Amino acid sequence: MIPASTTSSILPAARLRGRLTMPADKSIAHRALIFAALSGGPSTVTMRSPGHDVLSTLACLRGLGVALEQSDDRYLVSGRPSRNAALDCGNSGTTMRLLAGVVAGLPLIVTLDGDASLRARPMERVATLLRETGAEVTTTDGHAPMTVVGRASPAPAVHRLPVASAQLLGAAVLAGLSAKGTTTIETPGPTRDHTERMLANLGVPIHRDGSVTTVTGPSRPRPFAMEVPGDPSAASAWLVAAALHQDAELTMVDVGLNPTRLALVGLLQRMGVEIETRVSAVSGAEPVGEIVVRGGSPLRAVNIGGGEVAELIDELPLVAVAMASVDEPSEVRDAGELRVKETDRIAAVVAGLKAIGADVEALPDGWRVRRGIPQRARITTHGDHRIAIAFAIAGLTGIASTVELDDPDCVAVSYPGFWNNLTTVSA
Ligand code: S3P
Repeated sequence: MIPASTTSSILPAARLRGRLTMPADKSIAHRALIFAALSGGPSTVTMRSPGHDVLSTLACLRGLGVALEQSDDRYLVSGRPSRNAALDCGNSGTTMRLLAGVVAGLPLIVTLDGDASLRARPMERVATLLRETGAEVTTTDGHAPMTVVGRASPAPAVHRLPVASAQLLGAAVLAGLSAKGTTTIETPGPTRDHTERMLANLGVPIHRDGSVTTVTGPSRPRPFAMEVPGDPSAASAWLVAAALHQDAELTMVDVGLNPTRLALVGLLQRMGVEIETRVSAVSGAEPVGEIVVRGGSPLRAVNIGGGEVAELIDELPLVAVAMASVDEPSEVRDAGELRVKETDRIAAVVAGLKAIGADVEALPDGWRVRRGIPQRARITTHGDHRIAIAFAIAGLTGIASTVELDDPDCVAVSYPGFWNNLTTVSA
């Protein structure tokens, strides 16, 4: 990674060109490592430059007694979670919630903790869900540290999720793998479907039918070898960068093209951007291929709300920057979940948009924004990788005249090579 000092000022690039590879998909990598551990192995997971969140899952699995041997990008996983432990999930909500589900279905006592940001995020929802399986779960006033006392044979529950969350759904499925009978999970809206796709491909009787997922246990994934595709959420930075630039053509290769992760492609197309996706392979039931995006088209305003929000959730800070490039106002609604991500992303996005000169208004569950006069901005990231990346792209594309980030290194939570790629595309 380029030292922070060289990235403290991000200026508009004259042109954007490049063919980029992305870090391993964070959502798929967490699941691949956990499913490998549940398979008993030997399984191998190959993943390019994983971010800190994925490394947290890896360290936690080691803490649970799973053997993980690394050779370059390849991790050989053997043994199952078998030890009581106190685990540090770092900044990663996915690690904490998915592992809580794993432990609920095993005769283990595990305490899950994390950094200050993770300790501020809601854990009572996952605790309530797992109590429905008979696990004993205690939180600290609804937050981490959270202790899960699991059961070898949890009850096959019928869960109704309070929010459309792939993390909650994943936790319920993971506990349900040990239950004798069918666990049913109903979600209020669509979420990414990696848990269902990957487990079905590994022989687990799991089905998603509309808003209902069922899994029948006891069942274990079979041992496997998987190459984790590039992260489409990381690619989103370059989709928005090219979309906002007059002279841009960027190609992302070996990137995951799961339709539940491509809502940003559809949204940018609705705004008038030229984007093509080409599936060339399938890895562990996940489609993989290329995304090509060209700049120079005038963008239209858009309004976002309802069910599409959950499928765009990680991309919304970048969407905000795209919206701030258009003269007409655009709106995001129904995105209250952003308030409980790594930071309050509605507050952080609105503060950042004001700083870059956009005409923005905060809403309880989103924002309304239109183009303003680009300013030199110093952005407070709150250590949130998605905020840092979104406003770096505002600087790169001239939506701000210059951007400085208070914590450029926080991008490594999901995208350790971000600054290198930024240098490559603008060279
Ligand atoms: C994730 C699900 C999303 C997303 C997170 C990764 C996952 O959270 O924000 O970055 O891998 O399951 P929710 O679905 O819980 O909102």
